[in-house]
This record gives sequence, structure tokens and C-alpha cells, in this order.
Amino acid sequence: MSILRKDFLWGGATAANQYEGAWDVDGKGASISDHCTNGSHTSPKRVTINFEEGTLYPSREATDFYHHYKEDIALAAEMGFKVFRMSINWTRIFPTGMEDKPLEAGLKFYDNVFDELKKYNIEPLVTISHYEMPYALIEKYNGWEGRECINYFYHYCETIFERYKGKVKYWLTFNEINSGTQAIGSVLSTGTVKGFDGPLYEAPDKPQERYQALHHQFLASARVIKLAHEKYPDYKMGNMCIFATSYPMTCNPEDVLANQEFMRKMNWYCSDVHVRGKYPSYAKKIWDKLGVNIKMEPEDEDILKEGKVDFYTFSYYMSSCISAQADKSGDGNIIGGAPNPYLEASDWGWQIDPTGLRYALNEIYDRYEIPVMVVENGLGARDEISEDGKIHDSYRIDYLKKHIKAMIGAVQDGVDLMGYTPWGWIDVVSASTGEMAKRYGFVYVDKYDDGTGDLSRRKKDSFEWYKKVIASNGDEL
Ligand code: BG6
Repeated sequence: MSILRKDFLWGGATAANQYEGAWDVDGKGASISDHCTNGSHTSPKRVTINFEEGTLYPSREATDFYHHYKEDIALAAEMGFKVFRMSINWTRIFPTGMEDKPLEAGLKFYDNVFDELKKYNIEPLVTISHYEMPYALIEKYNGWEGRECINYFYHYCETIFERYKGKVKYWLTFNEINSGTQAIGSVLSTGTVKGFDGPLYEAPDKPQERYQALHHQFLASARVIKLAHEKYPDYKMGNMCIFATSYPMTCNPEDVLANQEFMRKMNWYCSDVHVRGKYPSYAKKIWDKLGVNIKMEPEDEDILKEGKVDFYTFSYYMSSCISAQADKSGDGNIIGGAPNPYLEASDWGWQIDPTGLRYALNEIYDRYEIPVMVVENGLGARDEISEDGKIHDSYRIDYLKKHIKAMIGAVQDGVDLMGYTPWGWIDVVSASTGEMAKRYGFVYVDKYDDGTGDLSRRKKDSFEWYKKVIASNGDEL
């Protein structure tokens, strides 16, 4: 007997900026991701103010969902998907983010996608903003640092909420909003990089700007959630955070305290606001430590209170260890912290920790007691096409199997888990490096780091495996 809910939402996740391509078709404007070059594990991708002749910008074509959506959705349906996580490209609807009138061609594209999904009874799960901030808003307002962006975002949401009523029920406001608490993560999420041209990892860290930007994102999220709740009662509105499970480096109480501080800033700061509708008591300590002074308007407190999320979603890839001693904190992986000696890591140094997912689910549910969903998880790996023409990705199956077992464990612990959408169910461009070589999919896309490839799709071994997992509602792993 299956331990997971009968209506468990099995599926897969993608984002327009890494998947869709067609970056300038039918009047689409450029987003922050369209200004990013490719890179690799050893050579970081760059943000360029102007487009350079002869440089590869991987988001431009990505893996071309725009022209392959029918084929791709048929593949998702073949695996038995119940849900399809994707994002709407803000600049496909409003090229600079500041127009009054939306682009009909852009709206129509998503109509086609949602209609296609409906054919197979697949529910869309739509991220409204996934690293797709209009670049024009960055040039004009330094991204979300500008309070003006709240109204532009509101108008964008008004437009898509009305257009897609009856087609979309599940919405997430900002992808991995808590990346704004991190220097590097904030580049793509808060867009506070006006005038910056250079490697992603060298973007100057300006905590004042990114925390102010986060405040505006919280307000924007709360305002559109209020709108959805009032006008579209069947809409379910969620947040989306990276959950960075972290452990104290040792049982030295100083390490335990340092880890608590890390967890508050990284994992709870944003979701406390989203779920509880107010800043947590420790927020002031974070701001003071960073010398941040958030400018708030008198109405802000009420706005936050009125736009709480209905469910909590998160991405989970890895964990790390936190030490009170600066020299031991090290560089375990992109979420910070030091490597854990008990864990192995992916080729990109992301520490593989299924138990950390069970721990995360329990922590989240204990804290908030609202339904939870894992909307990203997976193993970025180099896939080889074997002589038999197949991709034998047993390492991916192994990774996912262990994480699904951990999820089932968490459900047995009492967590109300709604669903699971592994990241990049079909190969997409990597967000951190801009590579194609870092693949997550059950479906291989013929596309390479030099921009070549015919974009044809081919099933990996994990495709049949995941199909079986879904059919058995997680019983057959
Ligand atoms: C999450 C993002 O951080 O992780 C995705 O929401 C991203 O956009 C995914 O692609 C995996 O990261 P990467 O860098 O391996 O693509």
C-alpha cells in the first residue's frame, strides 16, 4: 500500500530561461538570463551589459521548448506526469516589464502549452519569476532594489492570472527567493547588478541593495497572493526557497549556534515572511550585522500580513557543514559551508545527502504545518551516449531513488507532502554555470556546450524507471 497521497503530484521541473529558447521571437525582450554567457565548473559564466559578437548566450536557444513543446509534453505524459513545473518568461509578455499592454503572441504561446498539458490531464505548476527579470528593469531601477518593480510585477500577474484562469491552479511567486540572502545567488534573483559586467562570481556584494530588493519581492509576492485569493478562489499560491540543510561541523556548542544563525538567514528568513506574513524576530539581528537598513513604508506590515502562501515549496540538492571558526567554514559547495566527511559529492562538488532531505521536510513541516512540495531535486551529471545509442544513467536513478525513499520516510514521520518535481526532467541549460554538460534529465537533448546539436530528444534509462515509480505511486523504486 502506497505511503504517499493518492493524489500525489508526480512530475518534473523546468524554467523558461533555461529551457524555452526563442529569446527574441515575436517581440520578446531580454531578461537577466539572456545577458549571461556560457561557462563551466572551472570558468564562471559572465553577465554582459551589451551582447558580444561571437559569444555564446545559452539561454537564447536553450533546449528550445518553444518549438518542441508538443513533443516534450507527450514525453512527460508518457512518463505519467500529473504536474508540469515551468515558468512564464516575464519578458515574453512584457518585453521591458514596463509596458501597459501585454504581447498577445507571448500570451498565446502559454495558452498553447497549457492546452497541450490539459490534453493529458497534466496540471501546470507555474513559477511567475524564475531568474527572468526584464533586463530593462535592471538598467532603470537596479532590479528589485526599485520599489517601482512591485507595480510592474503586479500588472504582469494581473494579466496572467486573468488570462490563464481555468487553465492554471498552482502558482509560485519567486523561484528560490532566498538566493537573495546570498551574494552570488542574488545576481539572477534580485537583479541588483545595474552596470555590472563580468564573471557572475565577481559581482560586487551589496547587502543593502539585495536585502532592500528582497523586501520589495516580499511585498510583490504578498500583493499578488492577496489578489489571487480575492479574485481567483481556486488558485493555490506557494513560495519557493532553496533549502540548504546544514549541520554543525562538530557538537561544539559554538558550532551549533553558528549553524543556527546560518539556518535562520539562509532557510528561514524568507519563508518566515512568506508563511507567517511578517518578519521574524531575528531579522533585525541579520540586518544589524550586515549594516543593512531597510526602507519600509507604513502600509508594508499590512501588505505582508495579507498575502500569506497556501503551501511551501523548495528545491533540495545538497547539504553542508557550518563551523564557528571562519577558517574551517570552507567551501563545500555553492550554498556555502564546509564539506561533510560522511558524504560524497557530485562532479560539481554538490554534496549528496538524501537524509538531509528527510530532515529538511520535517523541519519545514514542524515549523509551518502547511502542505509541502519538493519542486526541484536531482543530480547534475555528465551523460555519455553508449555504443548501443542509449544513455545508461544508473547514477541518476540511484540518486533519485534515495531521495524518494527519504521523502517517503518524511511522510511516515508525519509530513503532508503534496508532490515531487525533479529538476530538469529534460536536459536544460545549467543556471550556475551556463553549461549543457551538466545534465539532469530523464530525456537527453542533443545540444552541446559549443552551441551545436540538432535538439533531438532521446530517452535515458531513467525515463522508464521514473515511469514505473509514478505508476506505482512510489512503491516500486
Ligand atoms: C536551482 C534553480 O538553483 O537549481 C534552477 O532553481 C537550477 O534554475 C537548479 O538550474 C540546478 O542548478 P544548476 O546550476 O545545476 O543548473
